[in-house]
Amino acid sequence: MKVLSVASEVYPLIKTGGLADVAGALPSALAPQGVEMRTLVPGYPKVMDALDQIGAEVAFEGGRILTAKGGGLDLFVLDWPSLFKREGGPYSGTDGNDFGDNPARFAALSRAAIAIARGAVTWQPDLIHAHDWQAALVPVYARYQADIPTVLTIHNIAFQGRYSGDIFSDLGLPEAAYGMDGLEYYGDVSFLKGGLATANAITTVSPTYAREILGPAYGMGMEGVIGSRAKDLHGIVNGIDTDVWDPATDPTLTANYSARGLGRRKANKAAVAARFGLEGDGPIFAVVSRLTAQKGLDILADRVGALVGMGARLAVLGSGDPTLERAFTDAAERHPGKVGTLIGYDEGLSHLMQGGADAFLIPSRFEPCGLTQLYALRYGCIPVVARTGGLADTVIDANMAAIRAGTATGVIHDVDNGDALEAALRRTVALYEQPKLWGAMQRAGMKTDVGWGRSAGEYAALYRDLLQS
Ligand code: ADP
Ligand code: GLC
Repeated sequence: MKVLSVASEVYPLIKTGGLADVAGALPSALAPQGVEMRTLVPGYPKVMDALDQIGAEVAFEGGRILTAKGGGLDLFVLDWPSLFKREGGPYSGTDGNDFGDNPARFAALSRAAIAIARGAVTWQPDLIHAHDWQAALVPVYARYQADIPTVLTIHNIAFQGRYSGDIFSDLGLPEAAYGMDGLEYYGDVSFLKGGLATANAITTVSPTYAREILGPAYGMGMEGVIGSRAKDLHGIVNGIDTDVWDPATDPTLTANYSARGLGRRKANKAAVAARFGLEGDGPIFAVVSRLTAQKGLDILADRVGALVGMGARLAVLGSGDPTLERAFTDAAERHPGKVGTLIGYDEGLSHLMQGGADAFLIPSRFEPCGLTQLYALRYGCIPVVARTGGLADTVIDANMAAIRAGTATGVIHDVDNGDALEAALRRTVALYEQPKLWGAMQRAGMKTDVGWGRSAGEYAALYRDLLQS
């Protein structure tokens, strides 16, 4: 079975968050299931520079579709310099503002997928798997222009690709595509809504998030459309690439280790302390995150004093919202040697932190899946997470029953609640002070199956169902 995956970012070529990790991991995860997956991505400069083999080129509208290899992936690249050859990130310029022509850029990406489905290149897919709003027009175009089943995965419903209704006429779709069961959303155009209304199947990245987005608290206005598609909605939890994330071989660690040699983590802990200017002893809590309201880090920022008061230390790596950046750089100034903040993006350092920190904090307000708690489990770093989405599905709280059964892998607290977070921090420090218990939790986490196997099977089964119906 041939599946075209369409994504606006893909690891290791271009990444702003977990979507890239997932899009990058799916092809090799699905290969053992008999799925041959290739990935269509925009030709951003970072992507163009990373291509190590370029094969056929075919003209497509104002650009061309390249068949290429890069970062170990089989790719199709939409090389269209006036749309994608720019400074900045995939979605916004160096000033941090979204590009004004994003609807045109990502509509073109979706049309390129349809061209591939219709035979523009020699490889023709049986099904298209589109990711997030940037690829959500794939099912809409497919409805009118190609006879191919589509799957749309919601990685984050907060991003909906909503634009003024005026842009509809630029999309090259028939009038009928704008309407209640199409792109129309309160008089605007919403890429995500169009995709949700028209995809053959909708998936999201954990079972709990699949339930949450059916209601107004998490649906962010899409709960009605999603509710009308409930029977086609599937929650499939993300896995991680266990080769890229393997403490036994990870080249970015100071010391490699396995569950039997957790003492070796000490060298990594010392390296983390050195990078963040932390002194003394006590557990190190780590944050590696986009700094946005989603991640609940403002709630943590308010409790940094309490955390330090417990004898713990904090290392924060992240970038994003300037107010949050300032909150954590201020915290580092207020608590020298106890709190260290690095503003920026550093893939290697993020690995070292998983391998050296004692606990990993994810106090998200909502979290479709979350990958960093999965990395933490694999690295024997105890995840301390909010009870939402994929966090709730993948971490087992250290309550008395779970501790007795030896199944506890982390600490879970109520969402959006500073007191609950502080209680969880206190509970974590208390567990840390019981080394036997702590070690048992680390080992239980490291034994947790965080690979792609099961979920890849679920995707493959879904694809097969769609091809048979
Ligand atoms: P989201 O996609 O919502 O940002 P995920 O947990 O799914 O959340 O994925 C985030 C990914 O981005 C992880 O691989 C994480 O390690 C990485 N990441 C986030 N911020 C940084 C950063 N500042 N430096 C390095 N890696 C980061
Ligand atoms: C999104 C979500 C995150 C998820 C990732 C990959 O960015 O915020 O929870 O893990 O996509 O699916």
